[in-house]
Amino acid sequence: MEVVIVPDAKAGGELIAEAMAALVRRKPDALLGVATGSTPLPIYEALAAKVRAGEVDAARARICQLDEYVGLPAGHPESYRSVVLREVVEPLGLDESAFMGPDGSAEDVQGACEAYDRALAEAGGVDLQLLGIGTDGHIGFNEPCSSLASRTRIKTLTEQTRVDNARFFEGDIDQVPHHVITQGIGTILEARHLVLLATGEGKADAVAATVEGPVASVVPASALQLHPHATVVVDEAAASKL
Ligand code: GLP
Repeated sequence: MEVVIVPDAKAGGELIAEAMAALVRRKPDALLGVATGSTPLPIYEALAAKVRAGEVDAARARICQLDEYVGLPAGHPESYRSVVLREVVEPLGLDESAFMGPDGSAEDVQGACEAYDRALAEAGGVDLQLLGIGTDGHIGFNEPCSSLASRTRIKTLTEQTRVDNARFFEGDIDQVPHHVITQGIGTILEARHLVLLATGEGKADAVAATVEGPVASVVPASALQLHPHATVVVDEAAASKL
């Protein structure tokens, strides 16, 4: 695992956007796995700026989703499908045909999970998967004690994650769904390159456990230690307990 300490979130976003741009220059139809949350936004802004400036042609890039809430009505602005379309797909000048994600409104949720795992494999696998990290060390929505071999499946959110994510639902925890679909840790580990960005002091404990702790399901992000090509980019605040 490579750990890169950057001065701030903007520098982290720029560094990772350049890595993504370099990948797309090498492989124009690369499958880019993206994450939601506030942390990766500087990456998407920097990458879209490179596309607008003509530094990279992303017209053939493909975007796939890491996780999704279950049960939000189609088109809900906080469904991760809506978020990824709004924050990544559209700013890169792509349309929905470039996008893949699990169907969080499917009646057969387990079937939707299995279909998504198959679709990722049939698409040739994820070239670069971006990850954020929860304050409890979760990646995607793989909460602590998720199996390190898990596949895409339905999970129940912890109270802590629902509290953390209430800010996207007018601060009202009752609006935060209890259930989600997430790529499993085993699924995530199949991506060719994993890039985790963590910024701010609130992530410092989770980052220290991820990078320096034992590989353990209680810290799902520690599974990155098992991956042959994992990069952890942290700002100085998030690195403060390393
Ligand atoms: C959610 C997402 C994760 C994300 C995490 C942290 O739980 N499912 O993919 O990493 O939030 O979000 P933030 O970057 O806003 O702290």
